[in-house]
Amino acid sequence: LNYNVSRERRYILQVLFNGLRRLEYRGYDSAGISIDDSPPQSPVAASSASSNDPPPLVFRQEGNIESLVKSVYQDVAATELNLEESFSVHAGIAHTRWATHGEPAPRNSHPQTSGDGNEFLVVHNGVITNYEVLKETLVRHGFTFESETDTEVIPKLAKFVFDKANEGEGDQAVTFAQVVVEVLRHLEGAYALIFKSRHYPNELIACKRGSPLLLGVKDLNEDTSSGSALHDSKNLSKNGYPRELFLSSDGSAIVEHTKKVLMIEDGEVVHLKDGSVSILKFDNAKGRPSNSLDRPASVQRALSILEMEVEQINKGKYEHYMQKEIHEQPESLTTTMRGRLIRGGSCKAKSVLLGGLKDHLKTIRRSRRIVFIGCGTSYNAALAARPILEELSGVPVTMEIASDLSDRQGPIYREDTAVFVSQSGETADTLHALEYALENGALCVGITNTVGSAIARTTHCGIHINAGCEIGVASTKAYTSQIVVMAMMALAIGGDTMSKQARREAIIDGLFYLPNKVREVLKLDQDMKDLAKLLIAEQSLLVFGRGYNYATALEGALKVKEVSLMHSEGILAGEMKHGPLALVDESLPIVVIATRDACFSKQQSVIQQLHARKGRLIVMCSQGDAASVCLGGSCRVIEVPQVEDCLQPVVNIVPLQLLAYHLTVLRGYNVDQPRNLAKSVTTQ
Ligand code: G6P
Repeated sequence: LNYNVSRERRYILQVLFNGLRRLEYRGYDSAGISIDDSPPQSPVAASSASSNDPPPLVFRQEGNIESLVKSVYQDVAATELNLEESFSVHAGIAHTRWATHGEPAPRNSHPQTSGDGNEFLVVHNGVITNYEVLKETLVRHGFTFESETDTEVIPKLAKFVFDKANEGEGDQAVTFAQVVVEVLRHLEGAYALIFKSRHYPNELIACKRGSPLLLGVKDLNEDTSSGSALHDSKNLSKNGYPRELFLSSDGSAIVEHTKKVLMIEDGEVVHLKDGSVSILKFDNAKGRPSNSLDRPASVQRALSILEMEVEQINKGKYEHYMQKEIHEQPESLTTTMRGRLIRGGSCKAKSVLLGGLKDHLKTIRRSRRIVFIGCGTSYNAALAARPILEELSGVPVTMEIASDLSDRQGPIYREDTAVFVSQSGETADTLHALEYALENGALCVGITNTVGSAIARTTHCGIHINAGCEIGVASTKAYTSQIVVMAMMALAIGGDTMSKQARREAIIDGLFYLPNKVREVLKLDQDMKDLAKLLIAEQSLLVFGRGYNYATALEGALKVKEVSLMHSEGILAGEMKHGPLALVDESLPIVVIATRDACFSKQQSVIQQLHARKGRLIVMCSQGDAASVCLGGSCRVIEVPQVEDCLQPVVNIVPLQLLAYHLTVLRGYNVDQPRNLAKSVTTQ
């Protein structure tokens, strides 16, 4: 937060804490904040720090944001910190952490500091891969480290650079931006960074490479709804409006203040000073400046409007985000399809229109193969869509877990179409695989939920799933929207061959009816809660599926394990005889997905074989099929509406999402912040 109107420190803290609460889903094991102790002695010439200015205050706490809030207010009481103190300009920073290096503890929380006196402070999202080498060098120069983090080298390096540049010259021989540029020259890995310094009061420097970062601009005297250009610092300081500036890893922390944003690019250094903004660009596209203390070029960028509503990031009438997101699937699916399905007139065929793909359809049809690449739920969504893509396009489709593709350096060719599926559009593993596919010359298609995300920007073309902001760490509505987008992609690639016309039209009709079918299946909420009560004390749950619903088995099991912390495994039913059958006994609960499709009779045999071994079965079947799947009435049945086979995974996952949700609540775990996980994993 950086603004040039007088406000109390109370407001500053509230803005930073609320921002952290919005970002908490990205990491929640510890948090920290830095604010100024009191306004600089000479507020007008704020850029020249006086040695009398007190160092910035730093608070760090293990646990969630509320633990930090509590500890800050306790300290406020203890130190008689004046919450009503006014600042003409104030620059504060805050961070919520998902531990990569070092356990969750105050010393490992951010801001990380340059040492006593808090001369340089840094908050960081990402991983510095060469931190050990840098640490050794800094230790040789007399620095001592208090944390196990990779981040701590950054503020210490900044102090080293600053001290070196000022040797014999007195304070301020270099600008803040020059110090940061020199620091960046030495960093390897991924980062979004914000620097604050005692030597440069009322200034912040933000920069990124790989990890997301955006700037929000709120001119307090302006209507904030319309877009405008973000001028360089000279123009900005001329307009004279009091303004608040925000930097954040994503829009959810900003949208309640402004929708005017700028997606910061790799290789840009954003300098906030006394309420104005300047953006410096470096030559090296990878974001590693080649020049050291030279002045980099200034650039002009246009602001864009954040496509997010405050209501989307509130829980509304629901207790948890995951619950809200499960229940809003009829609406999110409708939004995903809006404007993309053409029902056809009397003589017009039904079809789909995907603006982001239309110029590339020919190339995709001519590909040697289509490779789906993703992680977690996004991978599962692609797996659910694979059969229909193969069927309609006739192009072989293969699947890659992003990290595995990178580990193996698996073959990707110029003739391939590589489709990157990612809710956040920022997952480091997926991004890394994308860089690899680009290097190998494949056509790269992005399927993301986040406009302006790294994957959306880096791919050649793509489709936004438009599911709306998803905050629950366990992905739910993004999953169903991803499947629908990929089904529409299959229709678009399939083109207009006569032989498949009837099939295509049936799928398009199915897509139209899908939101209502999902509305219907959501009525199973209470049934799934009752089932959860029965399963509450279990150690393990198996989920068997095949064909279109192999993905449902994997995704259902993933939901259960990630939020309810119960072991759960999705199993390809065709593999049952080759191992998993050994686990079957009277106590282990097994969900079998046996809705109507080409695999139905095979799933009936699976049920028979499990039944013969006294398996404890919960069978998901199409409405009206209970008697034909539930042998001897001994199993529990979940009846779901039947839809076109390739869309059935969208319906079938909903009861399993509800089951995972209720199991978690009943077992007393945090649904929206499962242990050790984070929504957006921007480190490899
Ligand atoms: C994390 C999340 C998962 C998500 C996966 C991929 O592990 O906890 O819910 O499925 O990342 O995320 P993406 O944003 O690429 O879909």
